[in-house]
Parts: sequence; structure tokens; C-alpha cells
Amino acid sequence: MDPATLVAEPLDGRRHDRAGFACGKPALDAYLARVAAQDARRVASLTWVLVEADAPEPKPVAGYLSPAAVSIVLDGIPESRRADLARYPEVPAVLIARLAVATRYHGRGIGRRLMREAFVRAHVLARAHAGAALLTVDPLDDEATRFHAGFGFESLTGSRRLFLTMTDVATTAAGRRRRRTPRPSHAPPPC
Ligand SMILES: CC(C)(COP(=O)(O)OP(=O)(O)OC[C@H]1O[C@@H](n2cnc3c(N)ncnc32)[C@H](O)[C@@H]1OP(=O)(O)O)[C@@H](O)C(=O)NCCC(=O)NCCS
Repeated sequence: MDPATLVAEPLDGRRHDRAGFACGKPALDAYLARVAAQDARRVASLTWVLVEADAPEPKPVAGYLSPAAVSIVLDGIPESRRADLARYPEVPAVLIARLAVATRYHGRGIGRRLMREAFVRAHVLARAHAGAALLTVDPLDDEATRFHAGFGFESLTGSRRLFLTMTDVATTAAGRRRRRTPRPSHAPPPC
């Protein structure tokens, strides 16, 4: 499957094969199969799936992305990264709550394509609709942390959650920019 041929569609339980999705992390499979549509109805997070546009329905899901809106305490952002931020106690942010690629498609650029979707959607939201100064992500484990670090994400202070400023998002959307690997944290794993 060529990532360039995939389209992002809002999750639709009748049109997308939720139960057939397997990424190697059961919690992320179960979320898509049983919780994502419910979260979307309650507007807790929205889920976008990458599928072949002309595949027969229910379409196999190559990967998915679930963004949500959150706020981040300013004190948790390293001082050196606050220059572009307004000095309110809490900073509006977009959270990549979950992101996963079907195991059979790992290593083919679909994770990168999902990240591009996240970057573009967060940037459009922040600049045209609601204002959001950070893009954040809750990595499932250390392997996911390494994946996100490759896109420039850094650790929030004392947290497993990672962030990029929206300025970084705008400049990174077209490609990767590597920074140092985030420090390990003892906070409990989130997603
Ligand atoms: C992590 C995951 C999303 C990567 O998806 P993928 O489609 O295989 O990734 P891509 O092929 O697009 O790779 C993009 C880049 O990330 C790197 N990468 C992929 N998996 C990685 C990993 N586990 N650790 C570090 N880097 C990784 C690739 O080397 C590639 O970098 P390069 O272009 O500089 O070589 C996928 O393995 C997955 O869904 N894992 C299970 C769920 C999960 O851990 N989700 C993370 C969020 S909680």
C-alpha cells in the first residue's frame, strides 16, 4: 500500500472495518474497535482513519489518529521553549491522544503520513479556528516516545507527555527535524 494513495476519513462504523484493525498494541486496537466512535459522539476526541478511497466497504484501516483539545500548565513547559507563548497559566493545545498503524503496513511511511495529517490539522485549527499554541502527544511506551522524538517532540517537565510549539509544527510539517531524545520520565503511561 502506497501512503500517497490513502485518504483520511472521519471514522464511520458502517464504512470502516474497525474490528479488523491490529497494530500490535491491543489497547490501541480495542480503542478503535470499541471506544473511538463513542468518544467522537461525545466530542471527547475525533478519530480519522487512513483508507484506500475506492476500497470496498467496510474499508480496511491502514492507520488512525485521534486528536483532542487539552490545556497544558505553562510551568510544565521548559523555560527555553516559552518565548513564543502568551504568559497565561494554561496553554491551549491539541493532543494526539492515539495514533497507530496496522502491523502489516509498518515501515511503509504510514506513521509519517499520520503525523503529517496531525500537523496540518493542528496548524489549521490553531491559525483559522480556535487558537492552540502546542501540539502534544501521549506516547504509549518508550518505543512510541522514540518514534515521536524523530519528529522533534520534547518532554514536558515531569511528564511523559511530549510537545512541539505550533511554530515548530508549521516549520516541521514538510519533513522531520531531529532533536534530542526526551528524558525518560517516571510518570504512568497514558494511552
Ligand atoms: C510507531 C508506528 C506508528 C510507526 O508507524 P510506521 O508506519 O511503521 O512508521 P513509518 O514507516 O511512517 O516511519 C516513519 C519514521 O519513523 C521511524 N520509526 C518507525 N517506527 C519507529 C519506532 N518504533 N521507533 C523509532 N522510530 C520509528 C522510521 O524509521 C521512520 O523514520 P525515517 O523516515 O527517518 O527512517 C507503528 O509502529 C505503530 O502503530 N506502532 C504501534 C502503536 C504505537 O506504538 N503508537 C504510537 C503512539 S501511542
